[in-house]
Amino acid sequence: MSLWNDPVFSKEYVERNSVMCQEHKDVLYDFFNSLDKDISILELGCNIGLKLEYLKELGFKDLSGLELNFEVTKKAKERNHEIKFIHGVIEEFKPENLFDLVFTSETLIYISPEKIETIAQKIQNMTKKYIFGKEFYSDSPVKFKHRSENLEFWSNDYKNMFKNMKTIRETKIKNPNGMIEQAYLLSK
Ligand SMILES: C[S@@+](CC[C@H](N)C(=O)[O-])C[C@H]1O[C@@H](n2cnc3c(N)ncnc32)[C@H](O)[C@@H]1O
Repeated sequence: MSLWNDPVFSKEYVERNSVMCQEHKDVLYDFFNSLDKDISILELGCNIGLKLEYLKELGFKDLSGLELNFEVTKKAKERNHEIKFIHGVIEEFKPENLFDLVFTSETLIYISPEKIETIAQKIQNMTKKYIFGKEFYSDSPVKFKHRSENLEFWSNDYKNMFKNMKTIRETKIKNPNGMIEQAYLLSK
């Protein structure tokens, strides 16, 4: 069982992360605001849907999110009726339709390096055009332990997992903990 399914851990995570900071809003604004507001967008690992709520504020209308924790998905649905929230895991998700843009934000980092290329291919198959990601960067996988000690995550070159895609935009920012965050928008 993923620690993300643990009720105590996920409740504490939601309590710590129930408001989106300005810096995260700025990144989304920079990468999304010039895109057509009618495109369909799916976030994988959306938690209570803060990023999707902000995209709604920016004017996007066709928004969906996939989240593995049942209670968190329920909370996301209660918070926002105009966004479609789906309870499930990326590994088993079979969407009924393709999306114009599929994105992850600090979610690929929880997928082990052994599985990441398969998952990246799966994400590529779900999108008609764009992939956006905001993940911790290093040029090869580096393993970290979350503060709970029972949850591992990896920095990696996630952008490079997506093959034959054009880079529309990319930034790397060092956060206050010294981790490099990479944001990328790719197109088929
Ligand atoms: C660090 S949080 C990031 C939440 C959100 N993307 C954001 O940027 O605010 C990671 C989220 O991904 C979810 N998650 C992790 N692995 C997943 C998987 N394999 N399938 C679906 N959701 C997953 C977790 O339950 C958690 O809500």
